[in-house]
Amino acid sequence: MTETIDLPVEAAPEPQTAAPRRKLFIKSYGCQMNAYDAQKMTDLLAPAGFDETQNLDDADLVILNTCHIRERAAEKIFSELGKVREVKTARRARGRTTQVVVAGCVAQAEGGEIVRRQKAVDLVVGPQNYHHLPELLRRAEVAPVIDTDFPVEDKFDFLVKAPRHVTQARGVAAFVTVQEGCDKFCTFCVVPYTRGAEVSRPVEKIVAEVADLAEAGVREITLLGQNVNAYHGDGPDGRVWSLAKLCARLAEVPGIARLRYMTSHPNDMDADLIAAHRDLPALMPYLHLPVQSGADAILASMNRKHDLAAYRDIVRRLRDACPDIALSSDFIVGFPGESDADFDATLDLVREITFASAFSFKYSPRPGTPGAEMADQVPDAVKVARLAVLQELLDAQRLAFHQSLVGRTLAVLFEKNGRHAGQIAGRSPYLQPVQVEAPEALIGQILPVEITGLASNSLFGRLVPEETQRL
Ligand code: 5AD
Ligand code: SF4
Repeated sequence: MTETIDLPVEAAPEPQTAAPRRKLFIKSYGCQMNAYDAQKMTDLLAPAGFDETQNLDDADLVILNTCHIRERAAEKIFSELGKVREVKTARRARGRTTQVVVAGCVAQAEGGEIVRRQKAVDLVVGPQNYHHLPELLRRAEVAPVIDTDFPVEDKFDFLVKAPRHVTQARGVAAFVTVQEGCDKFCTFCVVPYTRGAEVSRPVEKIVAEVADLAEAGVREITLLGQNVNAYHGDGPDGRVWSLAKLCARLAEVPGIARLRYMTSHPNDMDADLIAAHRDLPALMPYLHLPVQSGADAILASMNRKHDLAAYRDIVRRLRDACPDIALSSDFIVGFPGESDADFDATLDLVREITFASAFSFKYSPRPGTPGAEMADQVPDAVKVARLAVLQELLDAQRLAFHQSLVGRTLAVLFEKNGRHAGQIAGRSPYLQPVQVEAPEALIGQILPVEITGLASNSLFGRLVPEETQRL
């Protein structure tokens, strides 16, 4: 039995004075899931004594949350780490310590190699391990630590809820990860190796997170996943729920007015999800549906597991279900073996489908992926030329889409103050920024706006009070 001694009240030890707060500089690269992870790391480190700073020189802790999707993204990290090292050295001269962390997908892919290449790094932590950050940082005070194992526990169970004022400061549109990882193994892509196998979060945990966000004033949720429409989470009824069913449930959360999801694979666009675009008003009529290439031979060699006919069919069914829907996509030019004719087929597909927006990239061979080993790698000059042609076409389509909205009335969710005094800025259903002359008090509301004009990447409009009742 443990012996206990009752101390007289006067002799009780002084309460420990709280450790001084320290500063965290965190920078995220790449996709929205990385941005979400960076927020979660910030929330996790707040109770451990860290407040965020935007100033690198002030930082006691620097975290680079990295992206490995293309070579340039990965190389950028090492040049950034060079800068961080200089700051660390300068701070040391002033008697200050700085811990440097590389998190995210470069951490997962390169592991200990990062510490060998850049000695200033104290900790390398993969995307599935950052919930252990406070403990890992303590261990890294002694010697560099690498943690890139795929743990058995669910990291989401260890994450910390942000205080209400923090969520409010982040605005009325928020991200929530619902699915992570990918089992598709497209031959160009590192994601299955860096983020691991596909895992879906249980429905109730997502509902709880969304309800908390809504309670703090969030109106729009973007559900995130590398393969979000492959979502298959455990439901409260003991069954496996699809993304369509999850969306229907989340639309019932009081305060939630808009739902989006990204990124989707064409093969997982099931009939229920297509129907949800017809039946669920909260689901925004804007879908990111990467196709990557317009040539069947290239799709096959990319292991996309569908052909063009299948993509066209999905687009047709989506447009039938929701005539207002606009599409965005990702394209890769210069995948190994891509001929001029294959590239022309991509241009033809773009002309046929028409996209409201798109991302396009030069193929970047990633170590460890099958594409990197393929014969017929395309010379960089050819990739550069093809990318320019494709981007010109996609830019023209984006502009035409913007122009097609002038004169129309769109529901705008107001998010923040606008560029000029007296303006507020929001987002259309199609995610374009919209600037409107209106009072700040309308931030957080969804109101009808007649689009009156456009700038390069945003729309201008005026409130249409008489239509307010219809939204
Ligand atoms: N090279 C070029 N682009 C890539 N993407 C993924 N991997 C590569 C690569 N190795 C693009 C794809 C994907 C998007 C997120 O990044 O278009 O949809
Ligand atoms: Fe990468 Fe393909 Fe998985 Fe998307 S579906 S994350 S492109 S492997």
